[in-house]
Amino acid sequence: MKALVDKLKTLAAETSATDLRAAFAADPQRFDHFSVALDDLLLDYSKCAVNEQILAGLEELADAAKVAEKRDAMFSGAPINFTEGRAVLHTALRNRANTPVLVDGKDVMGDVNAVLDAMGAFADGIRSGALAGATGEKITDVVNIGIGGSDLGPVMATLALAPYHDGPRLHFVSNVDGAHIADTLKLVSPETTLFIVASKTFTTIETMTNAKTARAFIADKLGEEAVGHHFCAVSTALDKVAAFGIDAARVFGFWDWVGGRYSIWSAIGLPLMIAIGKENFGEFLAGGHAIDTHFRTAPLRQNLPMLLGLIGFYHRNVLGYPSRAILPYDQRLSRFPAYLQQLDMESNGKGVTIDGTPVEGDSGPVVWGEPGTNGQHAFYQLIHQGTSIIPAEFMIAANGHEPALRHQHDLLIANCLAQSEALMKGRPLEEARAQLEDKKMPEADIARIAPHRVFTGNRPSLTLVYDKLTPFALGRLIALYEHRVFVEGALFNINSFDQWGVELGKELATGLLPVVEGKESAEGHDSSTAGLVKALLSAKA
Ligand code: F6P
Repeated sequence: MKALVDKLKTLAAETSATDLRAAFAADPQRFDHFSVALDDLLLDYSKCAVNEQILAGLEELADAAKVAEKRDAMFSGAPINFTEGRAVLHTALRNRANTPVLVDGKDVMGDVNAVLDAMGAFADGIRSGALAGATGEKITDVVNIGIGGSDLGPVMATLALAPYHDGPRLHFVSNVDGAHIADTLKLVSPETTLFIVASKTFTTIETMTNAKTARAFIADKLGEEAVGHHFCAVSTALDKVAAFGIDAARVFGFWDWVGGRYSIWSAIGLPLMIAIGKENFGEFLAGGHAIDTHFRTAPLRQNLPMLLGLIGFYHRNVLGYPSRAILPYDQRLSRFPAYLQQLDMESNGKGVTIDGTPVEGDSGPVVWGEPGTNGQHAFYQLIHQGTSIIPAEFMIAANGHEPALRHQHDLLIANCLAQSEALMKGRPLEEARAQLEDKKMPEADIARIAPHRVFTGNRPSLTLVYDKLTPFALGRLIALYEHRVFVEGALFNINSFDQWGVELGKELATGLLPVVEGKESAEGHDSSTAGLVKALLSAKA
């Protein structure tokens, strides 16, 4: 692998690929050569520093890393999450073809469909009012209590699919900071509120703590016997849910072969289903399934997740760019960057390969972003003129959901395209000077001011275009990024499906709680931690 990466480094340095202005000037068909579509979903990567030789080199790299074999192993149910001894089969949850999916020789599709049916019946009941609160009143508000993968997916997708939201109002509580649940409880009435306790493990301290607060909210206001009417749960740990006291008929299970950050397709999607209805949720699953089929069958040069993954690897490990910006020009995707942070960084933020050796080069980049056009007025300055090169990933729909505001959508598109064009073209010194000369600025001032108005250009970006942000389109977008993360993980040769890196902090927090509560001394902790404990304890009201 190292030799292939070095070869790509040499190619990138020697060829003209990294001079994007020249590349576009030399090839008027560059867009046709470096863009690919799946139905209405278009990926334009012509503004990335690639050429035919580099793509061939990346293809060689994918072969050497056995990306296709690893992909097939995932879909076949092999225990590729070997540090936890688990298969990785979130794809089975959206397997609308219903073809058998085997885990340990057993087809799981029966169980998958049974949970989906149970979710559908429950969601229908809540939406229609047939499943009411303890006082017989219809549920008007649903509060999802979960964190990480048990929160970010439903939050992001509910916001994304707001035009389809015709069920009860949704609220999300994740942070252990009591402010989060306190502010949320102020917005709802106990008689008309359903709490969903969502936790794969049903041990996560944030979720369990918030769930107890919510339980007390119901029990204090409506009595202990009302609790059953106002709670349901989503988990793989059915025994622990039973111990919490939630009726088995209101528990929706999933399986250890679904990673938390890949669980939006499972019963973790229940709040979304309650919001948009089971038919729309089915469309969302179908979008994910369409990408699965494409990822498994399309040749590499037509394969969107493969190309996204290869370009991501190229940016990180060949060109050395440390981060990527996710810039949806779609206000309803405003939580998509945060969602991708967990998906990408919890999956590929690893330092050890599957062989137990240190990763060669780098693993996953820092992922961050905000929707356009807001970001333009905040951090784009650095993307355009800062000293670090940050590949930008733009997303834009051809159509919004507001035909009456078409002029605003056109403005949104113009801004999106202008940004990628500006990043690519830049503005050389002669152009900056010419602009100032046109303004009749004195030469001494031009010499002083012009350098500040130079844009180096040659800054890479890719753009994803889709018709409209429908449930199907959102399902496709999420699955596309899931598989992109998979491809990059396969190239890094890491296990993208565990997350040991979050454990140490959790363990230390458990040990620190009695110290913070003043029940144990801070002895044995480092002087910084002990000093901070002392400062906080002495200020405790
Ligand atoms: O942050 C670690 C993590 O395990 C995530 O992977 C997961 O999505 C989150 O915690 C929540 O876990 P659970 O669903 O088990 O409460």
